[in-house]
Amino acid sequence: ESPTHNTEAKLQKICQLLDQEISYFNWTGFYFKNGDKEELILGPYVGAETDHTIIPFGKGICGQVAVSNETFVVPDVHDQDNYLSCSIDTKAEIVVPIIKNGENIGQIDIDSHSLDPFTAEDREMLEWLCDEIAKII
Ligand code: SME
Repeated sequence: ESPTHNTEAKLQKICQLLDQEISYFNWTGFYFKNGDKEELILGPYVGAETDHTIIPFGKGICGQVAVSNETFVVPDVHDQDNYLSCSIDTKAEIVVPIIKNGENIGQIDIDSHSLDPFTAEDREMLEWLCDEIAKII
C-alpha cells in the first residue's frame, strides 16, 4: 500500500532529519511495494536523483530485502554482484525493511560515500524507526 499524502510529508521529514544529523548518510529514502506487483516504487528521499524509481523484487540490495524481510548491511558495495548503482560516489549501503502486521511493505534505504560507515547503533536506530513507521502507515 502506498502512503497517503500526510504520511509522505512525514517520511520526507524523516529523510531530511537523518540526512542532516548523520554526516555519512548521503542518500536517504524510502521504497514501497507497488500495489500487488512484485516491485518496489521510490517514495520520499533526500539526495541525488536516481534512475531506480522502480526496482523488481530480487534485484539489487533493495530488491533482495523485499524478499528476505531482513536488514541488509553492505560495508562495501563493490563486493556485491547483485547491486544497482545509483551514484559512483556510493561506497556503502544499508536497507531496513518496514514490516507491518507481518508483511514487508517497504524499506528505508541509505547510501554512504564512506566505506564501512554503519555502526550497530545505526542499524538498531533504523530498525526502531522502521517499527515506528510501520505503526503510522
Ligand atoms: N543501490 C540500491 C538501489 C537504490 S539506490 O541506492 C537509491 C540497490 O542496489 O538496490
